[in-house]
Amino acid sequence: MNPKILNTLSYGMYAIGVEGEHYPSASIVNTVFQITSSPMTIAVSVNHNNYTNERIKATGKFTVSVLSENTSGFVIGALGFNSGRDSDKLKNINYKVLRENVPVLRENICCWFLCKVVNTVETMTHTVFFAEIKAGSDDYSGTPMTYDYYHKVIKGRAPKNAPTYQPDTGDDRSPQLKYVCPICRFVYKDSEQTVPFEELPDDWKCPICGVPKSEFKIEG
Ligand SMILES: Cc1cc2nc3c(=O)[nH]c(=O)nc-3n(C[C@H](O)[C@H](O)[C@H](O)COP(=O)(O)O)c2cc1C
Repeated sequence: MNPKILNTLSYGMYAIGVEGEHYPSASIVNTVFQITSSPMTIAVSVNHNNYTNERIKATGKFTVSVLSENTSGFVIGALGFNSGRDSDKLKNINYKVLRENVPVLRENICCWFLCKVVNTVETMTHTVFFAEIKAGSDDYSGTPMTYDYYHKVIKGRAPKNAPTYQPDTGDDRSPQLKYVCPICRFVYKDSEQTVPFEELPDDWKCPICGVPKSEFKIEG
């Protein structure tokens, strides 16, 4: 079987907010889906190694901020490629903390909701948290970002901790040179851009995770 057939499954893009030990924290997931409407229940799959997993287990609660298409690659890079165990990931991001001590993003989201864990299922690598929605924003706006949009328009990638991670198999047989970010695997292809990579200013940075241009690797 070609594992790439799983790329045909559809997802959205979300920030999961948790109460950290030192400061509020959040991480990116694409695996939120609704299970039931009454009570309103969702599920999310979170890697065992993620700080988010540890904090959901410790507190029994989390928030979901539904990212809109306007969410910048910077926010996804900061929350999706760094761990809250090592740093204050939200320090350059606009957010508010709910009465329940969990953060939600303030900008470029369609809506948010607050969840209380009601059940968990362990797999080899991820915990699936089942949770009831206890509160949420009064309204919604904007266009929700899909996982497909993130890949095709923002040209982002997912790290190994994402349940939907697919290793780079070199299936892309384009003869064009690719400039690849060593951290988040963002790919800059001259054929898809208006400015060739070499002509980008020296202070240009990876739009997803902020790695400097000089650290990009050329792949044929
Ligand atoms: C597009 C994208 C989708 C992701 N989806 C998931 C996911 O569904 N589940 C998961 O555990 N991690 C997912 N991740 C990876 C986590 O966001 C990442 O490992 C993060 O650094 C975890 O931070 P934490 O240690 O603070 O929890 C995704 C990352 C990206 C960029």
